[in-house]
Amino acid sequence: MLRLDNLTKTYRTGDRALSGVSFTVEPGQVVGLIGPSGAGKSTLIRCINRLVEPSSGQVFLGETELTRLGRGALRRSRRRIGMIFQEYALVERLTVMENVLSGRLGYVSFWRSFFRKYPTDAVSKAYGLLDRVGLTDHVDKRADALSGGQRQRVGIARALAQDPDLLLVDEPTASLDPKTSRQIMRLIVEICDEHGLPAIINIHDVALAQQFVRRIIGLKAGEVVYDGPPDQLDAEVLTRIYGEEDWSATIRAVDEDEALDEPTTSDEEYLSPESVLDRERMAGLS
Ligand SMILES: Nc1ncnc2c1ncn2[C@@H]1O[C@H](COP(=O)(O)OP(=O)(O)OP(=O)(O)O)[C@@H](O)[C@H]1O
Ligand SMILES: [Mg+2]
Repeated sequence: MLRLDNLTKTYRTGDRALSGVSFTVEPGQVVGLIGPSGAGKSTLIRCINRLVEPSSGQVFLGETELTRLGRGALRRSRRRIGMIFQEYALVERLTVMENVLSGRLGYVSFWRSFFRKYPTDAVSKAYGLLDRVGLTDHVDKRADALSGGQRQRVGIARALAQDPDLLLVDEPTASLDPKTSRQIMRLIVEICDEHGLPAIINIHDVALAQQFVRRIIGLKAGEVVYDGPPDQLDAEVLTRIYGEEDWSATIRAVDEDEALDEPTTSDEEYLSPESVLDRERMAGLS
């Protein structure tokens, strides 16, 4: 379970990005976080794993208060948090398999992973995850030879390779076509359900969020202005979140999307803060 208590962030520039945000996400629950540009969605996600340091308030992951951890303990806790980003932050010259294995860097010694010697159980686990995200045919492909959707799938597999207790997802579908976007959203939601993972997904596409998640939180100027089921996001609520606009097309799009809904395979990309750091170290050493 994830709990935010009165989370506030004011950047050094004076920008107040979050004002007293509080909510709880239960295991297996996926929250779609929506709101206009600059509302604080990315800040919220980054404050949870303290890539951005909150100004005040608390974040709990299970029993652990993330906001009071020192460096070492924070590093260990970050291994429990899988992150998936819009930009496909894979290691380009490594294979799909190696990218997924890099999600295990927290568990494998750095030098061992640097020389690409991974324990067989890690490899078979990674293979299982790649199967789950529908990438068994691409295991040995280099990351730079993949489509955007395939890269996102690698990212999902890499996040899962960490055995996370929480998934944080920032605009996972922003650069994908509508069909691939739906496949990716469906995959993330299914996986969270299977693993009992709480998740927050920042998403601009309201119709897409409504189609796949059962809880939506609307952020406006750093404050929660809506927290509820997707079907209550009517024109009045959308105006509260985004301001005055003609919402009939958005609301109609949701109905049409539901008619188009179809079973999926999967696609996506993720990078934990640990693997960002390790990737940078690898780049520096190679
Ligand atoms: N590093 C930073 N330094 C100063 N201000 C920042 C920084 N990052 C974000 N902000 C400000 O904080 C506010 C929230 O930004 P944030 O990136 O969290 O919004 P967002 O909801 O993710 O927007 P978008 O939908 O465009 O991604 C904005 O006013 C932004 O200008
Ligand atoms: Mg953002």
